[in-house]
Amino acid sequence: MRDPTSFLTQEYDDLVSQELDWKLRVLGGPSAPWCVVDGKKVLMFCSNNYLGLSNHPKLKEAAKRAVDTHGAGSGSVRPIAGTMDLHMELERRLARFKEAEASLVYQTGFAANAGLIPQLAGKGDVIVSDELNHGSIIDGVRLSQAERRVYKHADAEDLARVLDEAENATPQFRRILIITDGVFSMDGDVAPLDRIASLGAEHGAMVYVDDAHGEGVLGEGGRGIVSHFKLSRDRVQVEMGTFSKAFGVVGGHVSGSRGLVNFAYNKSRTWTLSGSHPPAVVAACIAAVDVLEHEPQHVQTLWENTRYFKKAMTDLGFDIGKSATPITPVMVGESGKAKQLSAKLYDIGVLALPIVYPMVAQGKARIRTIMNAALTKEDLDFAIGAFESAGRALAIIPGPK
Ligand SMILES: Cc1ncc(COP(=O)(O)O)c(C=O)c1O
Repeated sequence: MRDPTSFLTQEYDDLVSQELDWKLRVLGGPSAPWCVVDGKKVLMFCSNNYLGLSNHPKLKEAAKRAVDTHGAGSGSVRPIAGTMDLHMELERRLARFKEAEASLVYQTGFAANAGLIPQLAGKGDVIVSDELNHGSIIDGVRLSQAERRVYKHADAEDLARVLDEAENATPQFRRILIITDGVFSMDGDVAPLDRIASLGAEHGAMVYVDDAHGEGVLGEGGRGIVSHFKLSRDRVQVEMGTFSKAFGVVGGHVSGSRGLVNFAYNKSRTWTLSGSHPPAVVAACIAAVDVLEHEPQHVQTLWENTRYFKKAMTDLGFDIGKSATPITPVMVGESGKAKQLSAKLYDIGVLALPIVYPMVAQGKARIRTIMNAALTKEDLDFAIGAFESAGRALAIIPGPK
């Protein structure tokens, strides 16, 4: 007789025995520079809350007010009865911020990728994807009936080769869709979007960038990667992003032409078939856009902190990879050592988690640090001191001269 549930514990036990299970760390309060994690006060060094907005008074105030004026939930999916004036205002405000004709808000960034990608390319089409694209893009591509071709990470020459092959395929592909992350979340490097956009234009391909880690970070006032490279929207037709990182709240979005948005909200199944954001979330997102427009100091401080930390870590002898953004990997190599380093950092009072195989290739284990604008110089010195003593104890960097 078949046991219908035994695989649940078997597979979980396998993960535990390989130390690949997620051990959840619990925050006993807001995501702030100093947090209480599993009952211990630590410096937060790995959240995506780049600008510290998740705990910004204007966002909290806006969320509270929206509960009073609009209630706790939206009551429906967007196309039926779940579109409130707040949802429309957020989309107007976001489009203005992004300098795009229109924007559309999804429940999450994952829902945007999973809902839109399969509609942009289907049977008879080809999707050309960077080999290190985020899992939500990979799943969006899997939901599509298009063929998938992968190019080497951030390699425009390899992309050109793949596009040439795609153009010469028989039977001819109907549409070509190029998809890339803007900033790659494990290494902090930036996609060569200028070259990707030119190749897209040369080959009649649509270009889709997932800027989850670029917005609030890159470009004029944190407007993101399209602004960073000063690209026109007829070359990067889909700019996707999320409110869950630098904006400090939750929610996915796409920006581009009015034609894109009209298409997206009529066709994305994650958008039409899933409940819309509660008013408090939408109001906090509007406030986040407002803060980015009116308080440029957060993005500036994020970059000052980033430069300060990267320099100190390099001076100490750490290998910080090829990051060009506030995501700074501290390369360790062996998975076991990366876990030991993370544990020692936590003991000293810094939360920075290890990224190990299979999330990155074997031998490329690291601690992924993510900078935050709300950290002071004293906080940074504390973290640098923690890395120094833990790194020396584990012989990751040389001892004192
Ligand atoms: C590159 C990238 N795209 C999409 C997402 C998903 O965003 P969300 O948290 O809004 O679902 C993430 C989040 O980890 C991401 O890093």
